Amino acid sequence: MADHYDVAIVGAGPGGYVAAIRAAQLGFRTACIESRGSLGGTCLNIGCIPSKALLQSSEKFAEAGQALAEHGVKLGEVGLDLAAMMERKDNVVTTLTRGVEFLFRKNKVDWIKGKGRIAAPGRIAVTGHEGAAHEVEATSIIIATGSQSTRLPGIEIDEKRIVSSTGALALDRVPRRLTVIGGGYIGLELGSVWQRLGAKVTVVEALDRIIPNMDRELGTALHRVLARTGLDFRLATKLAGLRDLHDVFELELEGADQQTLAADVVLVAVGRRPYTDGLGLEALGVVLDEHGRVAVDDGFATNIPGIYAIGDVIRGPMLAHKAEEEGIALAEQLAGQKPHVDYDAIPGVVYTWPEVASVGSTEEELNAAAIPYRIGKFPFSANPRARSNGYTEGFVKVLAERETDRVLGVHIIGPDAGTLIAEATLAKEFGASAEDIARTCHAHPTLSEALKEAALAVDGRAIHI
Ligand code: NAI
Repeated sequence: MADHYDVAIVGAGPGGYVAAIRAAQLGFRTACIESRGSLGGTCLNIGCIPSKALLQSSEKFAEAGQALAEHGVKLGEVGLDLAAMMERKDNVVTTLTRGVEFLFRKNKVDWIKGKGRIAAPGRIAVTGHEGAAHEVEATSIIIATGSQSTRLPGIEIDEKRIVSSTGALALDRVPRRLTVIGGGYIGLELGSVWQRLGAKVTVVEALDRIIPNMDRELGTALHRVLARTGLDFRLATKLAGLRDLHDVFELELEGADQQTLAADVVLVAVGRRPYTDGLGLEALGVVLDEHGRVAVDDGFATNIPGIYAIGDVIRGPMLAHKAEEEGIALAEQLAGQKPHVDYDAIPGVVYTWPEVASVGSTEEELNAAAIPYRIGKFPFSANPRARSNGYTEGFVKVLAERETDRVLGVHIIGPDAGTLIAEATLAKEFGASAEDIARTCHAHPTLSEALKEAALAVDGRAIHI
């Protein structure tokens, strides 16, 4: 007989595992079906977490090689032990994925190992690793199967010489020349890792700017800093062809830059697409939208009663924290609560150096919507803590509605931007005005004073510029 659950979730990424824990907290008998050998999905296993581990390690390597001398710290010869760096990254991943297993046990969530297919509303057929079949019944089914890398036609990813983010997190040597296709989140973060470790990195981006979804000024500023540190950018340029000369690739470019490029490794980072393969959605009649995402209403319900979807597989930014919010909201909704996800207050962070972080509307969006706004800007070069730390690159930009002073968007490039954006996100959640931030006491000397000063600057009242 099939096991019966109140809630069964397919996929144990940040959307799925968080939904499972919240559902269990609310008293639901909950199962989470996951075929990967460890919990945590792309984010913990082959995404956010291993990339952050490598960003941290490579930043230390780059600092040891160049930046510490300025602080009066003298080192001998600096060497790279890539195997040790990779082992550390793997250990970070293992600790965190085991942490999710612990949380499942603590909350009495059953991890059902195998690949789930929704056989009918309320029924999931699970195929285990050795082909063992198992059936799970559930009152509510949540699809949280995430996304996978978008492929470029005619380019075969072998995860050794032509890699997606997965292979780029596990190269066994530093490539002499790495070409990155796509100047978005993945291309810039992983391009930075390998550039710091010694590769000559070229980024080929189809549009005329990098991080095209963020406020244009951030892209321009990041481009300038990364180019200065040695990344080579080919903007408004696409890959037209790739020839494998066995020990090297010859890349043919088209667009603004028509040259050919030689590369030892090519990283394809041109976006991600929803992952619904093998879920049986077509047979069930679950409606997808024009981008292949599962179509859901405001309550995450698909067109089939009892089947819901959250995270990368539905509309909205493909971000772990967005998926988590949706997972929590859906579990609470199933328990009869009235939760709400504010899609205008979801921060986006690129973990390059300097970091880039945004929340709310960009200037381009406000102009397109003809919403009058005022700008307050403050550079980190005028922030005493940034000066003391020696990280003076970047600025904070606050966009406030002209008439009401309500904060519409905050855009930061600079040291610790990913942490600083949390205050701006809270301000947006609370419907704060720029003046609310400006009148809030910020500890001195901290980087957060730059946000306060930018908020003051909205009204022309910044003190330190
Ligand atoms: P992305 O959407 O951030 O960037 C893809 C870039 O590739 C865009 O700039 C696009 O214009 C360009 N592009 C598309 N086709 C191209 C072509 N044929 N030739 C040259 N350029 C082309 O996607 P990315 O970097 O692959 O990341 C995928 C997703 O993963 C993102 O949507 C992001 O949400 C998530 N992610 C988030 C991270 C974070 O929060 N820090 C880190 C890594 C990934």
